[in-house]
Amino acid sequence: MQGRFRYKTKDDLINKVKELGLDLPFSDDITPLLQPFKYPDFSVSNRLVVQPMEGYDSENDGSPSDLSRRRYLRYASGGSGVIWFEAVSVVWEGRSNPHQLWIHKNNSDSYSWLNEEVRNNSHKAGIDPFLVIQLTHSGRYSKPEGVAKPQVAALNPLLDKMVPHILTDDELKRIADRFVEASKLAYKAGFNAVDLKACHGYLIIELLSARTRKESIFGGEDISARFRFLLETAERIRDEVPGIIVTTRLNISDLYKGGFGVDENGKSDFTEPLLLVEQLKSRGIRLINISMGSPYFNPHVSRPYDNPLPGQKLPDEHPLEGVMRMINGTSFFQKKFPETAMVGSAYSFLRHYSPNVGAAVISNGDAAFIGFGRNSFAYPSMPLDLINSGKADPKKTCITCSGCTRLIRDLRPGGCAIRDREIYGSELKKLTANGK
Ligand SMILES: Cc1cc2nc3c(=O)[nH]c(=O)nc-3n(C[C@H](O)[C@H](O)[C@H](O)COP(=O)(O)O)c2cc1C
Repeated sequence: MQGRFRYKTKDDLINKVKELGLDLPFSDDITPLLQPFKYPDFSVSNRLVVQPMEGYDSENDGSPSDLSRRRYLRYASGGSGVIWFEAVSVVWEGRSNPHQLWIHKNNSDSYSWLNEEVRNNSHKAGIDPFLVIQLTHSGRYSKPEGVAKPQVAALNPLLDKMVPHILTDDELKRIADRFVEASKLAYKAGFNAVDLKACHGYLIIELLSARTRKESIFGGEDISARFRFLLETAERIRDEVPGIIVTTRLNISDLYKGGFGVDENGKSDFTEPLLLVEQLKSRGIRLINISMGSPYFNPHVSRPYDNPLPGQKLPDEHPLEGVMRMINGTSFFQKKFPETAMVGSAYSFLRHYSPNVGAAVISNGDAAFIGFGRNSFAYPSMPLDLINSGKADPKKTCITCSGCTRLIRDLRPGGCAIRDREIYGSELKKLTANGK
């Protein structure tokens, strides 16, 4: 369905929302976003989160390059309370591309140096930043040398484009060890929290739904076997790295057949995600970043857009319906688990109105934090503008053109081709010139 953002005024947006029969919250007062957040074991300067966004720009050994450093320093100077670092691989063979960040004992100092600079920049912006590292294994979407080398928990005919390697239990145990080791390095490097990435089709979310995995302690019909990898790894990190907060970016529904949080038709069913969040809570997890869908299968779910990738057809829903699905899903979990702080996603489609919607979500108790993905590439200083003027500048926001996704799909460094044109605009031009 065609759904470009054409709302010049707040009333234009609200009228469209009504026409679609949606109930999008909206507040003229954005100050709820600027309130500090306090828990006994952590506190955050405000409710604005830079969401994890892979930049495909690391050095060959996985350490941050000048371009990665530039991205994080821009985020830090921009005033977000939480900087949630992108997916960082725990093993070479689980990298999504040859330039995915990858943390290991020979390069963890480079992360310490970066964090020091990030903290300095945040402090200059008046923020004491909460730094989260997203640890991952790319599973089905591993491409350590630039060509697909899928490593999966179980087959899924809907997703498999080639015969993948099915990871053995022993291999999974070794991968779990790497998550624990990477968490120790992350703690030493100055991160406040470690995210066990369980979303968007990568290995951990896949394990949660690996019903067809045979004779394994990590899969099959038994739900405790499917939950084992995430829960036991979280417990080990909690016990072996006591200074670090453990969190997860969790898909509450994959919205495809055979995925997590779905019924037999692939429609969302929160029965198992609710049990999982309960079990995470009983293990002391108090922060969850909520998402849904897969960028490879149903990208409009996790990142509602104006333009799809070239060659992809438009989804049969309006992007505002995608925004609303994420707000409602996050709210459902936030209301069930009021003591767990939930981070909401998929706000970038809302442009300069995203702070108004996010502030209303916070006031209604529908989430504790509001995350910005693509908009952080485009407009990392939006938080400071909110602090200083109470408004976001429509000329600086993300336009959800999918340019950043086009770049990384072609294994180019990811960033905003429109608002950070000098670097990423010329990258995108090269792709277009090559007919991509
Ligand atoms: C280029 C690109 C890279 C991304 N990388 C990650 C990632 O590393 N980890 C993750 O959990 N999500 C990743 N995402 C998803 C975003 O974090 C976010 O959920 C999504 O863009 C929707 O939020 P938005 O509407 O604010 O952009 C990525 C999205 C894009 C477009």
